[in-house]
Amino acid sequence: MRVTVVGSGFVGATAAMRVVQKGLADDVVMIDIVEGLPQGLALDMRESAPIEGFEPNVRGTNDYADTAGSDVVVITAGLPRQPGMSRMDLLDKNAGILRDVVGKVAEHSPQAVLIVVTNPLDEMTYLASEVSGFPKERVMGMAGVLDSSRLRYFIAEELGVSPSKVEAMTLGSHGEAMVPLPRQATVDGKPLADMVDEETLEHLYARTRDAGAEIVAFLKKGSAYYAPSAAIAQMVNAIAGDTKEVLPVCAWCTGQYGISDVYVGVPVKLGRGGVEEIVELDLNEEELAALRKAAEGIRAKCADLSRVA
Ligand SMILES: NC(=O)c1ccc[n+]([C@@H]2O[C@H](COP(=O)([O-])OP(=O)(O)OC[C@H]3O[C@@H](n4cnc5c(N)ncnc54)[C@H](O)[C@@H]3O)[C@@H](O)[C@H]2O)c1
Repeated sequence: MRVTVVGSGFVGATAAMRVVQKGLADDVVMIDIVEGLPQGLALDMRESAPIEGFEPNVRGTNDYADTAGSDVVVITAGLPRQPGMSRMDLLDKNAGILRDVVGKVAEHSPQAVLIVVTNPLDEMTYLASEVSGFPKERVMGMAGVLDSSRLRYFIAEELGVSPSKVEAMTLGSHGEAMVPLPRQATVDGKPLADMVDEETLEHLYARTRDAGAEIVAFLKKGSAYYAPSAAIAQMVNAIAGDTKEVLPVCAWCTGQYGISDVYVGVPVKLGRGGVEEIVELDLNEEELAALRKAAEGIRAKCADLSRVA
């Protein structure tokens, strides 16, 4: 199992570290356009192996030949947000970067499953699928696992319970059109909606929707990476370990939820083949309408991509 992480910035490096520390792959390759960066970070990680107790199977490179035959490729190359920027402000620059890296990844690892992380997430996932020409089930985006983890944390904080007691899921797009699912959220198995009032629910959802911006405002330079890299590692674990775990992922819909031919956040069963099934939850009319609206928003933005070089 070879996992390559493209982009050795904050998200890429932290994700590579989590994957190697958890022993999710036999071989982890970090690649970046900046010479020496992935090599130095990988060496630093290997030097922590005796203390942390993991096999030091991580190396850095600037040459895609060294990533050849990867089973999973995580794409984090691209600019992060600065304060005041929306994810869509990154579209033009990151589309150029993505075209470049996905072309090289597809050439050297034609059988890989791609996990796109670069923002704007939904549109970059679509672009990666177009550029790679891979079957849609082998190209997906990471956002729902992160958004759901943020929501679960905020619920735990609000109620003063351990995050491990909280289950919750968000679907839709990574941004304004995130779709929270109140009826799926539970604390210790009990429905969240029975424990907090409507106003609190709305506050929790709004904070989740804006969670990335909240961190960007604190950091001033760059965006979040601890929670994003944890979400990436969970997806890599499901694919590499063929766990068939159901996770919210940006995936290509073919009629599920009445949505066709667009990438949008939906629950999927993940395994060695990538997205092995889109799981259709029993959504009510309001939730379905919100999910379809998110999908149409992404479809319109993807149409915009054709004007970007
Ligand atoms: N999907 C999500 O939920 C989510 C969460 C967090 C961050 N992100 C996105 O992930 C991306 C990376 O964020 P970050 O904080 O790691 O940024 P960063 O600036 O720390 O790292 C980006 C890295 O990409 C590299 N890079 C740029 N062009 C490249 C190319 N052509 N080939 C290879 N490498 C290249 C840069 O040299 C840099 O090391 C951003 O677009 C950010 O918005 C997405």
